[in-house]
Amino acid sequence: KQVSLDISGLQHFVSEQELDEIQPMVQTARNLLVQGTGVDAQMNEWAKLPANYDHVEFDRIKAAAKQIAENSQILIVIGIGGSYLGSKMAIDFLHGSFYNHSFDGKHPQIFFAGNTLSPTYTQDLLNIIGDWDFSINVISKSGTTTEPAMAFRIFKQKLIEKYGIDEAYQRIYVTTDAHKGALLEEARQNDYETFTIPDGVGGRYSVLTAVGLLPIATSGGNIDQLMQGAMLAYNDLYDTDFGNNDMLKYAAYRNILYRKGITNEILESYEPHMRYLAEWWKQLAGETEGKDHKGIYPSSTIFSTDLHSLGQYIQEGMRNLMETVIEVDSSQSDLYIPRSRENLDGLRYLEAVSMDDVNKTAREAVALAHSSGGVPNMLITLKDNSATTLGYLIYFFEFAIATSGYLNGINPFNQPGVEDYKRNMFALLGKPGYEDLRDSIKKSPH
Ligand code: PA5
Repeated sequence: KQVSLDISGLQHFVSEQELDEIQPMVQTARNLLVQGTGVDAQMNEWAKLPANYDHVEFDRIKAAAKQIAENSQILIVIGIGGSYLGSKMAIDFLHGSFYNHSFDGKHPQIFFAGNTLSPTYTQDLLNIIGDWDFSINVISKSGTTTEPAMAFRIFKQKLIEKYGIDEAYQRIYVTTDAHKGALLEEARQNDYETFTIPDGVGGRYSVLTAVGLLPIATSGGNIDQLMQGAMLAYNDLYDTDFGNNDMLKYAAYRNILYRKGITNEILESYEPHMRYLAEWWKQLAGETEGKDHKGIYPSSTIFSTDLHSLGQYIQEGMRNLMETVIEVDSSQSDLYIPRSRENLDGLRYLEAVSMDDVNKTAREAVALAHSSGGVPNMLITLKDNSATTLGYLIYFFEFAIATSGYLNGINPFNQPGVEDYKRNMFALLGKPGYEDLRDSIKKSPH
């Protein structure tokens, strides 16, 4: 199995009967997704992607990745939220924490811009590019989000200064909506190579479209295997035996706990290269479920690093926490604690033990401590670090989280809260068309 769920850490927190009770509701939520009969069902296209994606565009993505690798040492990926977190997490997951530091001359370094308004970060990145050859992949479904639009102007200017307009435009790859938006208009006018985010796929569900696939392919990630892994998860969905379906069981257990007042879920990993996997998951869960004053609050930690900070709170703070730990079954490394003639550090008892064993033992020790401290925990085990497993995991989380949304009676696919801030910012910055909103904000007592 690519991805499996172990719930032995729920023993003292959830009964068989509770699972039996929620099961029909989870099945109903699953059916709303699979049959496309839930609220905002037209935004459900991501759920069919593994079986039904545009193969012509897929080939164009591979060709573009090859082209970028041939003429650039750096790819600047511009996007925010769902338009960058998926590719960032996948690149780290597949290549480790130091991808950009181990430039092999074949796959460009990949840096992210347009996910902040910080001039310091943006200037630092411009300095990093220096005289290296670079290309840009700008990603925005709406085509109007302020952060990526500003960054695009800035990096496009550098591109034009370096290469002149004609070559600069050939180094710009746009990923956006098929029909509308300022970015699409610009791409059409300037003849940039353009990829499409399908209508029924929202930002946080878009990693298996060109949004994620072009940067991932540019890094040398195997996007065929990624889609195959997602397809394995898709097929498992049709395994209607609830007992065998870990995707649905994960949705069920986290919602049983939520309904008991355990409202915060911490996604935990003992692998720093999964930090962004958690960031991606937080966006997926937070934007999908946090609505109508409801929803599990998603957070994350990297252990054992954070055992020396948040570990104390988790062990003894408020009892409204659940933990979901992600572990890779087979470590990529066989690093051992070296033997030493002296034993000044007192580590003789660990000599010739693999670091992976120590890491996994820490995981077990923490699970026991947190469980006895009153924190329910689930364990998700990944078979390996492959693109196939990642593809499976992406679909696993997307489906489980969307199911949770329907289970809680909210629309999993909108993000009115995010749109509120975007509109207010347009108004305050004086964007034409937002004059009335600007006036009313200025008059408001807050
Ligand atoms: O998941 C979402 O829909 C959001 O997080 C968006 O991805 C984010 O706001 C960026 O939007 P856009 O791609 O339109 O620039």
